[in-house]
Amino acid sequence: MTRPFLSVENLVVHFPTPDGIVRSTDGLSYTLERGKTLGIVGESGSGKSVSSSALLGLHRGTSARVSGEIWLDGVDLLKLSDEEMRKRRGKDVAMIFQDPLSSLHPYYRVGDQIGEAYRAHHNVSKRAARIRTIEMLARVGIPQPDRRVDDYPHQFSGGMRQRVMIAMALINDPTLLIADEPTTALDVTVQAQILDLLQDLQNEFHTALILITHDLGVIAEVADDVLVMYAGRAVEYGSTRELLTRPSMPYTWGLIQSIPDVSGAVDKPLRPIPGSPPSLVNPPKGCAFFPRCPYAKLVDGTGDRCAHELPELLSITPGHLKRCHLEDPEVMYQDDTELETAR
Ligand SMILES: Nc1ncnc2c1ncn2[C@@H]1O[C@H](COP(=O)(O)OP(=O)(O)O)[C@@H](O)[C@H]1O
Ligand code: SF4
Ligand SMILES: [Mg+2]
Repeated sequence: MTRPFLSVENLVVHFPTPDGIVRSTDGLSYTLERGKTLGIVGESGSGKSVSSSALLGLHRGTSARVSGEIWLDGVDLLKLSDEEMRKRRGKDVAMIFQDPLSSLHPYYRVGDQIGEAYRAHHNVSKRAARIRTIEMLARVGIPQPDRRVDDYPHQFSGGMRQRVMIAMALINDPTLLIADEPTTALDVTVQAQILDLLQDLQNEFHTALILITHDLGVIAEVADDVLVMYAGRAVEYGSTRELLTRPSMPYTWGLIQSIPDVSGAVDKPLRPIPGSPPSLVNPPKGCAFFPRCPYAKLVDGTGDRCAHELPELLSITPGHLKRCHLEDPEVMYQDDTELETAR
């Protein structure tokens, strides 16, 4: 059996700290094909960035303990030497971040920075790299690219700077692009433009795209599949359509209710999920969402099972998996009064 283009298998990223081991990613698995988009969604601190950074080998040389397998185009990235990984980083796999200034140096002209990113992987002259850079700036929608190529990062607006970073990430034509909250800092209109641009470029370059966000609304717009993360683990995973129309565990349902539009329940008030995520050093023994879950009692009458037994990630229908003891997700779709009675 051939593996999918990207196959992350049982990925673990733990950080030893004086307070104990921080279990930022604890057995994460997912797959992605070229030309497709996987959305990874979850509240801040759920392990989205830490798990994705492992795909670029960014934990190498740190205290992080990484295990599992990351197969990209038939190669397990975790088994590569540091030197081999360095050759692939920025070429086969590229990443863009919420804050472009974390990738762009403030004191160098953007054209020089993008050109250097290109020359790091291609044996070409500065002149050739500059021509390629201008083409790329034009492609990401920067007006007058032959002039703006000599500007510094601070001379661009937030949205334009994000475009510059996308140009830098895509200049080596990576097969996998990871976009970590790329639009979080932007206003809604610019956010939509950047998402459109990412989708256009993905179609053109046939890139596999991992889009990380805490906003399920963004996922609804662009992702083929969704992975919902909670406390370092996948709690639900499936096609975007299936997951948004038939969410099967309470955390996903909570995320859906905390955004407008996609729930389809326009007459309902938006409800943020009360409480906060658990400690990753001493995670709850059973289901990590138990302390915040209003449905635990519906499982066994007492909530004991949820409190003590970690649910496995199991498929409910082909390709749709959930980590939850609740058998019938329909109970979540009831309105609040019914829920109050059931609790
Ligand atoms: N170097 C580190 N040492 C210890 N803990 C870390 C380190 N990096 C990240 N973490 C912790 O890992 C958890 C997941 O972080 P992260 O992946 O950045 O979350 P997200 O991107 O979902 O907001 C957080 O609790 C964070 O504090
Ligand atoms: S396993 Fe129990 S506590 Fe966890 S989400 Fe499902 S119902 Fe809630
Ligand atoms: Mg993050």
